[in-house]
Amino acid sequence: LHGCKSENNETPQVLLDIKEPLTSPYKIPADNPMKAEAVELGRFLFYDKRLSSDNTIACATCHQSDKAFTDGKSFSTGFLNRHTDRSSMSLVNLLWVNKFFWDGRSGSLEDQVHFPLMNEKEMNLAIEEVAVKLQQIDIYPAKFKAAFGTETITPQNIAKAIAQFERTIISNNSRFDKSQRGEITLTEQEERGRKLFFQHPFPDQNIRGGNCGDCHSGPLTTSTNDKFANNGLDMEPTDKGLEGITNSIYDRGKMRTPTLRNIELTAPYMHDGRFKTLEEVLDHYNDHMNYSIYTDVLIKEASNEVGGTTLKLTEQEKKDIIAFLKTLTDNELIQNTRFSNPFGK
Ligand code: HEC
Ligand code: HEC
Repeated sequence: LHGCKSENNETPQVLLDIKEPLTSPYKIPADNPMKAEAVELGRFLFYDKRLSSDNTIACATCHQSDKAFTDGKSFSTGFLNRHTDRSSMSLVNLLWVNKFFWDGRSGSLEDQVHFPLMNEKEMNLAIEEVAVKLQQIDIYPAKFKAAFGTETITPQNIAKAIAQFERTIISNNSRFDKSQRGEITLTEQEERGRKLFFQHPFPDQNIRGGNCGDCHSGPLTTSTNDKFANNGLDMEPTDKGLEGITNSIYDRGKMRTPTLRNIELTAPYMHDGRFKTLEEVLDHYNDHMNYSIYTDVLIKEASNEVGGTTLKLTEQEKKDIIAFLKTLTDNELIQNTRFSNPFGK
């Protein structure tokens, strides 16, 4: 159990509910140690529409707890009904993420907060202006004092509080988690799906697999080293993804491999929400792979037929994988009042 504490501080279990199977190491910035009052402040800020320029948009507008912190749309609606360029992302288990956004352009949760605030398609208010505004709102000076020791509201402390709240959003009570802890047993179909999900196919050895775990790896179902991949959505990607950050053509259309936890609740799927159902997602990976030069080799090489050029799962195997994906739904997370709107609905 090497990962139950962070590398640089010890956080009480009540704030970070870390347990098997989510025990990989994580880091918390030394200048933002977890504190109950700051987490609670962060929750208020996350749900407060006054953080936007016209008091209509909160973080929670696009990150709704009952949808595992997504919004059910291909593109989100923000300030003045403008649409974002990409689909909203789930905010679960960000404690183990190091590069944020589909293209990884932000290096910490504290840094990430600035983007939606100042984005004129999202909340349209610079964090410096948010600080001035919050200073005038009755509840906040005392909450900042309890969290950070001063009533003077600063951009840094706004970002720190929201980041602390986000770190507490840990999803580890799905049926998959419970089966990993030996508390329940998955059905035969779910178990077949689990094996296929994590197995790379080797048809010459009669080993069938879905190869999903090659990228969506381990119990986090994401990559341990923030792997970016082009999963073959387009011959010529219109959204350049990681290439927009690195300017390298080899990164064209690469996105961070997202977690699949609660995927049943987070449709539509992919950075542009192009797939409405998990069946469409499985059909994409199974049949419609665009063999562009940008597609990841782990996808190009994977087939269940010797010499095959696509994955070649059976209809039953696709259903089994979807049954497994649904074991990643965490009903306790979405009902957890620690993550719900403190202002009431
Ligand atoms: C108008 C909708 C909208 C609002 C408001 C919004 N977000 Fe987001 N959020 C998105 C979209 C869209 C993305 C993906 C954007 C991208 O990758 O370019 C995203 C991505 C993120 C991510 C990255 C998650 C990951 O896995 O990398 C975090 C963290 C996040 N938002 C937190 C917040 C916080 C905190 C707020 C409030 C300060 C907020 N968001 C407000 C739509 C929104
Ligand atoms: C080569 C790495 C790779 C492999 C293999 C892979 N994925 Fe993905 N997956 C990704 C990446 C990268 C994305 C995000 C792509 C995008 O939106 O442009 C993604 C997105 C998804 C999404 C949408 C997530 C969301 O939040 O919208 C689902 C669902 C998914 N994959 C399921 C699977 C399944 C099931 C398999 C196996 C059949 C699989 N993946 C195999 C890398 C991979």
